[in-house]
Amino acid sequence: RAELDDTAAGQGRFGGRRTTKLAIVGAGAVGSTLAYAALMRGAAHTVAMLDVNRSKVEAEVLDLQHGIQFMPMARVVGSDDVAVCADADVVVVTAGAKQKPGQTRLDLAEGTIGLVRSILPGLVEVAPDAIYVMVTNPVDIVTYAALKVSGLPSNQLFGSGTVLDSSRLRFLVAQHCGVAVQNVHAYIAGEHGDSEIPLWSSATVGGAPLLDWSGLAGQPPLTAQVRADIAREVVQSAYRIIAGKGATNYAVGLAGTRIIEAVLGDEHRVLPVSSLIQGAYGIDDVCLSLPSLVDRRGCSERVEVPLDEEELAGLRASADSLRSIARRFGL
Ligand code: 2OP
Repeated sequence: RAELDDTAAGQGRFGGRRTTKLAIVGAGAVGSTLAYAALMRGAAHTVAMLDVNRSKVEAEVLDLQHGIQFMPMARVVGSDDVAVCADADVVVVTAGAKQKPGQTRLDLAEGTIGLVRSILPGLVEVAPDAIYVMVTNPVDIVTYAALKVSGLPSNQLFGSGTVLDSSRLRFLVAQHCGVAVQNVHAYIAGEHGDSEIPLWSSATVGGAPLLDWSGLAGQPPLTAQVRADIAREVVQSAYRIIAGKGATNYAVGLAGTRIIEAVLGDEHRVLPVSSLIQGAYGIDDVCLSLPSLVDRRGCSERVEVPLDEEELAGLRASADSLRSIARRFGL
């Protein structure tokens, strides 16, 4: 029977193969749920958690360790010392202030930019070859700041972006159309936040263009009014959840795990992550989400999905708003 050799900070071997190590920075609601989701899906052999609050991270790790018997083979470690992240293959950053009811993601910018400046250099020192996935909000600004602070190549560091918003969109479209969510292909692009835009013109339901969808027997059609309501609902989702329970955690944990699996499995998966845009759609020097190729190299290419005029204008407005916020904070 293959044994998990957990020597040398998780860089062991499992059944002769090199093991994979996922480091999660922040053991709050998002970081802990992401650890749980990643372990349940067997996304990595070692999950290492880092948090400034030592008793919190130790408690989360203990709780996860007690469930290992019921998970695919893995180990969980945690500490308040950055060394726990040494030689990670993927580092996911979730640490940061919680969005309070009534606050937008952008209201968190100042605090989280400071956090990025203080934690990223140490992480890059212990895990120089990792792929970095920023989850902390406002994720597009945080990703841009993290690129500047770390000096890492732009394929190696990107943000979770609108992977979560796109899954919210697909859920709502699937519900309305009466099909499985896996049969809906649709992306949210731009900011992970209030200026995000749904790319309706390229969306499909069961292979049919979404804009031509007239409804299955007994199901209502997807009118312009319905689309507008769905788009609004996607933007409002996080606010509603935060108002009800103080934070969002399950879907973001799963969306983060999807990204980690795409990297560690070298899946070449198209995901709307937030990356540095240099010229696509006439947009420059800003991080935002576009459908992008995610694999073992990180995020190295964007898919140039055709946009209609309204989508293009919306994307450029989202880019302008994000860029002006980054400048306001001296980035
Ligand atoms: C979310 O969209 C708050 O960004 C977080 O769930």
